[in-house]
Amino acid sequence: MNKTTNQIRQDFLNFFKEKGHIIIPSSSLVPYNDTTLLFTNAGMNQFKEIFLGEKQRDYPRVVTVQRCLRTGGKHNDLENVGYTSKHHTFFEMLGNFSFNDYFKKEAIEYAWELLTSKKWFNIPKNKLWISVYENDTETYRIWHNIIKIPAERIIKIGDKNNSQYDSENFWQMGDSGPCGPCTEIFYDYGSTDIKSSIDFLKNENNRFVEIWNIVFIEFNRISQTKIISLKNKSIDTGMGLERISAVLQNVYSNYDIDIFQELIKSIFASSTIKNLNHISLKVIADHIRSCVYIIADNIFPSNEHRGYVLRRIIRRALRHGHKIGIKENFLYKLVPNVIKIMGKSADILKLKKDKIEEILKAEEIQFSNTLNKGLKILNSEIQKTYNNVLSGKTVFYLYDTFGFPVDLTEDVCREKKIKIDYTGYKVAKEEQKKRSNLKNKFYKNYNNNIFINDECIFQGYKKNKTKALVKYIFINNQFVSKISKNENGIIFLNTTPFYGESGGQKGDIGKLYYKKSCFIVEDTKKYKKTTGHIGKLISGEIKINDYVFSEIDENYRHSIELNHSATHLLHAALRNVLGNNVYQKGSLVTNAYLRFDFSCSKFITMSEIQKIEHIVNIQIRKNILIKIENLDLEKAKLKNAIALFDHQYSSIVRVVSMNNFSIELCGGTHTKRTGDIGFFKIISQSSISSGIKRIEAVTGENAINYLHKKDSDIQNISFILNCNQSNIKEKINQILIKTKNLEKKIKQLQKQEKKYYIKQLLENIKNIQEIKFLSHIFYNYEHILLKTIVDELKTQIDNTIIILVNVIDNRFTILVQVSKKVTNWIAAKKIMEIIIDQTNGKGGGKKEMAEGGGVYTIKLPIILKNIQSWINIELEKKKNNKCI
Ligand code: SER
Repeated sequence: MNKTTNQIRQDFLNFFKEKGHIIIPSSSLVPYNDTTLLFTNAGMNQFKEIFLGEKQRDYPRVVTVQRCLRTGGKHNDLENVGYTSKHHTFFEMLGNFSFNDYFKKEAIEYAWELLTSKKWFNIPKNKLWISVYENDTETYRIWHNIIKIPAERIIKIGDKNNSQYDSENFWQMGDSGPCGPCTEIFYDYGSTDIKSSIDFLKNENNRFVEIWNIVFIEFNRISQTKIISLKNKSIDTGMGLERISAVLQNVYSNYDIDIFQELIKSIFASSTIKNLNHISLKVIADHIRSCVYIIADNIFPSNEHRGYVLRRIIRRALRHGHKIGIKENFLYKLVPNVIKIMGKSADILKLKKDKIEEILKAEEIQFSNTLNKGLKILNSEIQKTYNNVLSGKTVFYLYDTFGFPVDLTEDVCREKKIKIDYTGYKVAKEEQKKRSNLKNKFYKNYNNNIFINDECIFQGYKKNKTKALVKYIFINNQFVSKISKNENGIIFLNTTPFYGESGGQKGDIGKLYYKKSCFIVEDTKKYKKTTGHIGKLISGEIKINDYVFSEIDENYRHSIELNHSATHLLHAALRNVLGNNVYQKGSLVTNAYLRFDFSCSKFITMSEIQKIEHIVNIQIRKNILIKIENLDLEKAKLKNAIALFDHQYSSIVRVVSMNNFSIELCGGTHTKRTGDIGFFKIISQSSISSGIKRIEAVTGENAINYLHKKDSDIQNISFILNCNQSNIKEKINQILIKTKNLEKKIKQLQKQEKKYYIKQLLENIKNIQEIKFLSHIFYNYEHILLKTIVDELKTQIDNTIIILVNVIDNRFTILVQVSKKVTNWIAAKKIMEIIIDQTNGKGGGKKEMAEGGGVYTIKLPIILKNIQSWINIELEKKKNNKCI
């Protein structure tokens, strides 16, 4: 009996537990300690700081089953999914790790024992091949002399293009970080006997599949050209669970292992296809696993960053669902299936099942319309392609107008072997950018293209004013030695009380001054580790190496602080009222108001909003002392401090607590006691994208002013309505009823009026030869009513030319209607052209109907009269021509 995938996962953990390893849970797919990574892509990620010696190890040997995602950066498998047997976006990586404990020999021996011993995986030894880094003679010797692998089955792999460490057998996590030579174990799926390493290197029919990678972490890559040795030597191994399952279950494709087959069968059941091997089934099976785990790690679909990767994966899965005839929303229904197949690894999913389903469903509903429309247009455009190249304009149009993602267009085109004109796409995108830049031309842009490799010490937690040394001055992004009167620029100091905008908190304003020189700081921004004071010099001059006093505007800062502390209270209250699934997704704290974006897919009711306000105000009235302490990250976690998931924290973090009600990691500035906030009022609630809500609120003086404004609005309304404030609702209801009745009456009167006009018009019909001509100028009539009059007249008389004009203030609108038969002689469009030509108006239309308008001119009645003569002449001409 083959082992199940769930057994294999457990065996791996048990084996290494027996060898003295501690089992550590998988870390989140969102690396908490690394901004260089979009998603966790290897088991070693959570130990990066230990490898680098930046953090103490808790245990010398650990073993993990790590959830990984490879959809971007150095390791990106998204495009291969479904088309190859071995690639996934989401997969589980089995890994054992040694931190400055055992090294090459034991790591290799353990791997060999697990793979080949009868007690464990029992793989025949002759099915395994080894690769080593060419210069790593020690590893070669271990395999050959100790493990006794014949020389012809150990392949040495060197550097590519003579570039040091650029090799399949030198593993690197990304463009920077821990790295080192590695040795890989391959499984031979072939049945014929081969002995030569040349055959291995040719690797025909993908006969050899890498199953385990053992990395000897010895270096840290600092940059593309710089690599340094690490003090500690460590082991990082990684074996894809799905690959080893395929080996142990005697199948070639990962998609044929037990867990995938079960999932694929459930997708197949809701499709209309007959082929269980269809690529789309594999794509969906792969993608749904990614989706549920990403959402479980608190990332929700959005248009940027990780949320966008998730959105792409969901949309790709939906497109493949569409391809295999699944008509209904289906992805969210697969969540229980994923939970079922994933065994112990599904624990995190079980906790969040409802949330995951809810988010997937919302995204499916939102996208299905776009998908259907977009695919229709795309398919018809593909049919029209010339030379099998889809125009870049179309790709951009689909994206810009319909929100149909470019990567989906690429996907469809790849399948149909259609190329995309990327140059045309770029041109279309640039043009659009230019158009929108024109719209935004008043946007004030402080250029961030300033890089300073220096540090500015922030003293603003304790001081509002400091003395500082001027280190750099920039004007128009150019480094200069001084700034003079009336010049705008950015000044960098060695130390400052000014808070540079970060974590949502707006930068401070204030002044830098010395003797007669004064620079007004209008904004403060961070430039890596230093701080730019942005503003204008209003007197004297400031030079590099001058000492200046730098002083923030205390009132401005204080208002910001009230809003920042209130934001923490709001965050806690939201979790209180709406549940712990509320996570911060964005925040803006200004002196005037606060804005808070958070994950929440349900509708928030008025009573919930009031409850949130109520809770925040209770905490304000408690006048809690706001405690700020610097703690070890681990200690802060123990306190259950709320942290941003996708934020990198150093090992010491700043914790802001308001009793136990709110504990958050935060670098911002806060008021002393909650009572300082005075009063908190939510002023708006909206939804900014699927599953993300936004609340805006005001505090202190601004909250009072907001209520005063509301009060005076109410007072004005009651004055206008001539009633008491307490009767406003009743009064408005009365007015609405009255208005409805009046509207009814007006409609009746309009009907009568229309009848009257029609009667009058019919009496004024003129005959121009055999054509009936009718023209009239209305004053202050409604244009829409003109149309109904024309429609009515059309039914009553035939062979007509009708011209109706409506004059309101100094403008006129005009309607020309010509009976179908008459259009053989004269077209409505032509009449309109004559009129607008003579009135400098604008208009156009077709043979039977034309509309136009312009500035009123007293010539209009005469023009209409002249039209009659023109018609007469035209008719004559046409008749004569016909006779000839
Ligand atoms: N870090 C290596 C890899 O991902 C081994 O775990 O392949």
